[in-house]
Amino acid sequence: MKIGIDKIGFYTPAFYVDMVELAEARNIDPNKFTIGIGQDKMAFAPITQDSVTMGANAARQILDEADLKAIDMVILATESGIDESKAGAVYIHRLLGIQPFSRAIEIKEACYGATAGINLAKDYVAKNPESKVLVIGSDIARYGLSTAGEATQGAGAVAMVVSANPRCIALQDDNVFYTEDIMDFWRPVYSEYACVEGKYSTEQYIHFFDTIWTRYTEKFNQKLEDFAAICFHLPYTKMGKKALDLIIETAPPAVQEKLLENYRLSTLYSRNIGNIYTGSLYLSFISLLDHQSNLQENDKIGFFSYGSGAVGEFFHGVLQPGFKKYLQTQTHEELLNNRSKLAITEYETKFKQQLPKDGSTLEINPSSDPAEIMLTGIQDHRRQYVRK
Ligand code: CAA
Repeated sequence: MKIGIDKIGFYTPAFYVDMVELAEARNIDPNKFTIGIGQDKMAFAPITQDSVTMGANAARQILDEADLKAIDMVILATESGIDESKAGAVYIHRLLGIQPFSRAIEIKEACYGATAGINLAKDYVAKNPESKVLVIGSDIARYGLSTAGEATQGAGAVAMVVSANPRCIALQDDNVFYTEDIMDFWRPVYSEYACVEGKYSTEQYIHFFDTIWTRYTEKFNQKLEDFAAICFHLPYTKMGKKALDLIIETAPPAVQEKLLENYRLSTLYSRNIGNIYTGSLYLSFISLLDHQSNLQENDKIGFFSYGSGAVGEFFHGVLQPGFKKYLQTQTHEELLNNRSKLAITEYETKFKQQLPKDGSTLEINPSSDPAEIMLTGIQDHRRQYVRK
């Protein structure tokens, strides 16, 4: 039985920061951000969007009535969760109107979480072929104003329906995964912002990719030329390119050219959104699907997932007949084109806004955010969500 991603879509908030303007405000050469790091725009989440609302906004675009009846597990992968106890997936389950005889849970392992969620979903569907699982990766990436990580922030969510007989991509069972206890990036429970050893984290990403790819090719006798494209976790768009460059010369020149072009296409959304942590790898897959018209059914797509701390995984999927019919390209383009640019001073002001942490009440005007699902305030330590 084939199992994989039946539907996939993303959401990103209605605001962004221009990277050239950010560089100029920080007295940095803009080429460092646009070429050296590879980012043009950075999505910004207003106070009305969190990992729950973004995840629900991503999912609502891909689900129909049949999905709402068939889904019996909701998995939210996030490293910017809103509660130490209650899973964000429970709110999402309610906001979307999914039938009640469901499981709803949250998974954490930095940016790797959604990959763990997909694997859990695959195993579940293998035993329950009639079931569908909603897997969401949703995050706000924040390092702080004027920090080295500032240019690699972002916000957004990817939602996927995992099912039997998937219409988009059938996931294979050749996963190679690897864990090592390292401190490259983490966020203690008392901290709003991530702690990061920037240079070390990039070295570890490469080390994990190298280690996993070597084992994968040996264990499964695969070569680079077997793939139409490889999608990477993209903390910033230059990062995946550094990993691809490590192995690209093992392929014939025509294959190198194809893989590099498909890599470029897979980075276009991230280039305009930034790091969305758990959803980032899957955003690069959506970007590839939406921008590369040459992809064919049975093309093999490789996926490299990396979550700091750290866990990495490589696996592949096979594009299914008719996959192009189910793409949400127009919705995605509209989402990006309808965003408003924040001046740097506005961004800095909004960045400092926080929900009260002392139980006091905050009410937010629902018209301040065009999103269908948003946070309208907090009362008695309870977040108030609406679906307009
Ligand atoms: N024109 C063109 N390029 C320029 C330039 C200019 N004027 N000035 C600098 N550059 C280039 C540099 O040469 C460098 O390129 P290479 O890496 O190819 O050598 C690039 O721009 C970045 O320059 P620096 O390394 O000097 O940048 P930095 O020290 O200020 O910070 C960073 C870069 C480490 C990525 C930092 O933004 C950061 O800490 N980000 C958060 C951590 C992160 O994203 N790590 C990635 C791996 S961890 C992971 O994947 C999990 C996750 O999601 C967080």
